[in-house]
Amino acid sequence: MKFYISATGIKKVTISNPGGGNGKGGGGGCAAARRFSGRTLLLLLLVLAIVLPFVFVWFAFLVLESASGFDSPLDCMGLRLFSGGDTSLKISEELTRALVEETGQDGNGIGKKGSLESFDELVKEMTLKRRDIRAFASVTKKLLLQMERKVQSAKHHELVYWHLASHGIPKSLHCLSLRLTEEYSVNAMARARLPPPESVSRLTDPSYHHVVILTDNVLAASVVISSTVQNAVDPDKFVFHVVTDKKTYTPMHAWFAMNSASSPVVEVKGLHQYDWPQEVNVKVKEMLEIHRMIWRRHYQNLKDSDYSFVEGTHEQSLQALNPSCLALLNHLRIYIPMLFPELNKIVLLDDDVVVQRDLSSLWETDLNGNVVGAVFDSWCGNNCCPGRKHKNYFNFSHPLISSNLRQDDCAWLSGMNVFDLKAWRQTNITEAYSSWLRLSVSSGLQLWQPGALPPTILAFKGLTQSLDPSWHVAGLGSRSFKFSEEILKSAAVLHFSGPAKPWLEISNPVVRSLWYRYVNSSNIFVRKCKIMN
Ligand SMILES: *[C@@H]1O[C@H](CO)[C@@H](O)[C@H](O)[C@H]1NC(C)=O
Ligand SMILES: *[C@@H]1O[C@H](CO)[C@@H](O)[C@H](O)[C@H]1NC(C)=O
Ligand SMILES: *[C@@H]1O[C@H](CO)[C@@H](O)[C@H](O)[C@H]1NC(C)=O
Repeated sequence: MKFYISATGIKKVTISNPGGGNGKGGGGGCAAARRFSGRTLLLLLLVLAIVLPFVFVWFAFLVLESASGFDSPLDCMGLRLFSGGDTSLKISEELTRALVEETGQDGNGIGKKGSLESFDELVKEMTLKRRDIRAFASVTKKLLLQMERKVQSAKHHELVYWHLASHGIPKSLHCLSLRLTEEYSVNAMARARLPPPESVSRLTDPSYHHVVILTDNVLAASVVISSTVQNAVDPDKFVFHVVTDKKTYTPMHAWFAMNSASSPVVEVKGLHQYDWPQEVNVKVKEMLEIHRMIWRRHYQNLKDSDYSFVEGTHEQSLQALNPSCLALLNHLRIYIPMLFPELNKIVLLDDDVVVQRDLSSLWETDLNGNVVGAVFDSWCGNNCCPGRKHKNYFNFSHPLISSNLRQDDCAWLSGMNVFDLKAWRQTNITEAYSSWLRLSVSSGLQLWQPGALPPTILAFKGLTQSLDPSWHVAGLGSRSFKFSEEILKSAAVLHFSGPAKPWLEISNPVVRSLWYRYVNSSNIFVRKCKIMN
């Protein structure tokens, strides 16, 4: 006896009964027939007992299958592929063929007249016109590809808009500047000498810790200074030097003149107050012009590629386009020894940092004869840098770069550095920086990404001292930042490097609060301009 069973049911049941027909004579026919029908019944029952569960399972499977997963029509088809039955096997074969054949012409169907816009339309099209499976596969695939493109394009746009959002200055900050400027003109206190005459001698006294901030953002400068002061063991040890541009000079001065009681010595200097020799002015202009040329070239490349750059480099490419990359104050740090001719050592802080620990031991760090102290060793294990790697900043296809740097080395972090200005003055770093800029022009502006850091890395090569990674945690303004609470808590300096500055709406609310707690909410200007919202 043999059974042939397939998933579609019993195809054939052959019952062979060896010797059954020959063994007995005609006399016992009736008994034999009765015995036979009894045996057949038994056999049939047996067969049914074996087969029925199969049929049941098969049915259940079909029901489940039709009810399950309409997330994606393709998934659904894939499931059928393995369900076994003859018909569904045929369907799935045909479908697969149709889908594969469709590949040849994907891009073309999209955007053409008559292409589908939604899943509803697909259903309507399929039910009304009673299309065959080939047509179904073709239309479905077109629809899916079309949707995938829309999603990709929306993601691109969202990223670009996010970056554009970082270029603006919030109304509340404008308000603060305007109100302080007004105060400067009407209130003698806002014009008071800064620092007061009795503390002027501290400005050049090497026994104090000198902190330099280059910025045109009053609120940011105030946060840097008050967070440093509030976390200092001995706040009176610190002297702050704020360098700003001409338009920000009056509000900056007004702010610190009126808040002088709550902070130690602060000096505010406008760039217009420096009387540099003409040759330096020419050099600074040339430097800015070259940075602009690199920026424009980068921007053109992005536009030409319609912002469809390689995954993973978007953020960096867009970030480099921020107009602040071209700001004079941003680039002047290479002239710091000239900005402070009487100082021999400084801590330079960017305006987008918040200090959480006493900086005295940073100031006292031995630089071992090097010019700059910076974080560049990893805190995150092997094969990982606290910032970016050289290859993220430089074009290593160019021999000038590949012969000078190693692409997998970690680039040092700028924004929180100690500089030995005395050692700096004994080197040619500033000249080296200028000559790298000129080299960049003569080699077609393709050596590095826009920004001040790449030529700085080249100029300071071999003169950097590594600092403990906990001194500086950067990248809090980047979209992809991910730090544990523990790291955020233990860092001495948090740096909102990246587009999402803490004073912008787009910043991450969790880390923004780490910055906002140093904004003085009882200050009248902060209240009037609704800065704390
Ligand atoms: C700086 O450059 C000058 C001339 O270009 C050279 O004579 C001098 O040795 C350089 N100094 C250092 C420290 O490299
Ligand atoms: C990198 O440099 C090479 C060699 O000069 C050049 O051909 C290439 O276009 C550069 N790449 C970029 C992205 O600028
Ligand atoms: C905050 O501002 C108020 C009013 O201007 C001032 O009295 C207070 O000292 C300030 N607090 C800090 C921590 O600066």
